[in-house]
Amino acid sequence: MKIYLPGIQPAPSQKYIKLNSNENPYPPSPRVKEVLQKLNYEELRIYPDPDSLEIRKKLSRLYGYAEDQIICGNGSDDLLNIIIRTFASPGEAIGFYVPTFPLYKVLGTIHGVQNEAIQVAEPYDQPPDPPAQVRVFFLANPNSPIGFAYAIPLIRSLVEKVQGVFVVDEAYAEFATANALELVREFANVLVVRTVSKSYSLAGVRLGYAIGSRELIQEMFKVKDPFNVTRLTQAVVSAALDDQEYFRKNIAQIVATRDWFTKEAKGLGYRIISSQGNFIFPQPPQKGKGNRFFQSLFDRKILTRHYDEEGLRDGVRMSIGSPKDMEITLQVMKDVLKVL
Ligand SMILES: Cc1ncc(COP(=O)(O)O)c(C=O)c1O
Repeated sequence: MKIYLPGIQPAPSQKYIKLNSNENPYPPSPRVKEVLQKLNYEELRIYPDPDSLEIRKKLSRLYGYAEDQIICGNGSDDLLNIIIRTFASPGEAIGFYVPTFPLYKVLGTIHGVQNEAIQVAEPYDQPPDPPAQVRVFFLANPNSPIGFAYAIPLIRSLVEKVQGVFVVDEAYAEFATANALELVREFANVLVVRTVSKSYSLAGVRLGYAIGSRELIQEMFKVKDPFNVTRLTQAVVSAALDDQEYFRKNIAQIVATRDWFTKEAKGLGYRIISSQGNFIFPQPPQKGKGNRFFQSLFDRKILTRHYDEEGLRDGVRMSIGSPKDMEITLQVMKDVLKVL
């Protein structure tokens, strides 16, 4: 079985520009620091709220869905796992377009389901129909690792073709101009999955959530681990959600850096499909150079990701870092063009 390989996580003493895990370059809201400083460590001997109710209440107010339409998990990875275990039995099929987030396939294999991987290619806005008989269909939107986003009317038409559960994995939706939340109101089989890892700079505490019909969420509650979100995580995320002003500024800065960097890198001759996430997928002008490009950046202390897969071999996935890190990266990308 092919395992899921997370991006390299170097020790802090190793001075890399780390653009390989789509993390947020900025710290979380200062309210997170406050809550950590005030935390009563004695309370850690007590189990956390199994229902993550405080967070679900805040998400309910933010998005206009009832608390019982929301479930929290130990990162959205946990929710993807719960979704497969809840809605697909071993031997049944799940589906997804490829290239995409590699974890769907790994989780499917672990759970003994059949993976229906449907290859898509440019133009990405005309994907083939998803197979109607799958129990679960995963759509990462914006897509990773390329960053393009499917338009909401297109997603609506895809949902209509799937009888099973249709999951829109919105790990990057906060960086995009549109999202699929309204589809939860229109369809009983749609689940939208989100995370605080990227948009709230909280990859280190692990919290994801899913929003869907009461029926779907109720079934997922039966399957999740009883205490799947730690006491620390609940306190930290609750504080971060309260600081929407910080959140909005953080997102706006990353989007501005992404759009500036994309323009500059294109000016150097790199090919970049417009991204709606906090990452881009630059491809050097000559085809087949993705791995060399990755290696050249790595040798110059810039970490990105290269995937040896159909549709991905020509480029690397690169997270959007701080303006300073991206300026250095741009200069390096200019230099490496001569050696590729
Ligand atoms: C498309 C997609 N979904 C889900 C995740 C998992 O995020 P989390 O940190 O919430 O587990 C990622 C992480 O990179 C991702 O790219």
